[in-house]
Amino acid sequence: MLDTLNQIEQSALTEIAAADAEALDTWKSTYLGNKGKLKAAMAGLKDVPKEDKPAVGKRLNEVKQALEAAHKARRAALGGSGNGGVAGPKLDMTEPGLIESHALGRRHIIMRVRDELVEVFARMGFEVAQGPELEDDAHNFIRLNIPPEHPAREPIDNFYVDNPAKVDTPRMMRSQTSTVQIRVLDDAVANGSGPPVKVVSPGRVYRPDTVDATHSFMFHQIEGLYVDRGVTMADLKTTLFQFARAYFGEDAEIRLRPSFFPFTEPSAEFDMKIQLRPDQPPQWVELGGCGMVDPAVLTGCGIDPEEWTGFAFGFGIERIAMGRYSIPDIRMLFENDVRFLEQL
Ligand code: DAH
Repeated sequence: MLDTLNQIEQSALTEIAAADAEALDTWKSTYLGNKGKLKAAMAGLKDVPKEDKPAVGKRLNEVKQALEAAHKARRAALGGSGNGGVAGPKLDMTEPGLIESHALGRRHIIMRVRDELVEVFARMGFEVAQGPELEDDAHNFIRLNIPPEHPAREPIDNFYVDNPAKVDTPRMMRSQTSTVQIRVLDDAVANGSGPPVKVVSPGRVYRPDTVDATHSFMFHQIEGLYVDRGVTMADLKTTLFQFARAYFGEDAEIRLRPSFFPFTEPSAEFDMKIQLRPDQPPQWVELGGCGMVDPAVLTGCGIDPEEWTGFAFGFGIERIAMGRYSIPDIRMLFENDVRFLEQL
């Protein structure tokens, strides 16, 4: 009898260790149920010799308690009852989550600056225009009045997709957003609306420059174009000054330096006094070029330069971001080290 009890206890404890919720129910009726093994053993007690009864009875009780305890423990381990019969931990959907913070993604600093710039210009009445990154040299050079012999057209300084020696209008990755000036003017003429046009166009440009602290083979520019009757250089300067104050603050200082671009006449370089490093005084930084749209560009688009005049500008977005956020090296903007980006 004692051997039987030992066997029952042993097999019961072995089986229960591996039981899932369903097996646990079966286990309970097998061992502890009314027709279970323990009840059967109890029924056999009456046949045990009288002098052995106390010891056997005591052992019976021990085994019963051991099995009941094992059942309770196993049920708790499986998540208890009252879980809709589903195994696993009880879920309280109203409990706050255990994970304290989810790292939320956000837009890259260049995209944020781009949108901020567009926003500032939108308040001054500029609409947003888009042009393709895969361009051709007609839009990138010829129609911007950049002649064939101009050094900017050298194959070594551009990402040509077609061989310029073999193809008439070779495709290329645009090297400047000024291409969009042509596309916008063409569209305006083609759809019959014509000038006035007042647009900004942000986007990527590509140049095979060696990467260093201030250069990259891909960067972003924002182009501006305003063509209307009676637009003058004073309008250009006012617009740039208003932009600088709106974006960099009331004390923003700007200056225009005479320069040359084939598609503007006169042309200027646009500088702003900004602090590039927290430990250095503000310095003049060139943000881009600007000028009055060259009459040859307007004529090429079918627009009469006697009636319409315009100004244009093109800035480097990275430059502006670096100035605004005191970022000393352009590479930091492209390495995408989250520890850096999180600080912006
Ligand atoms: N496209 C010129 C560049 O990438 C910048 C520029 C100069 C744009 C003068 C203009 C402009 O619109 O009028 O260097």
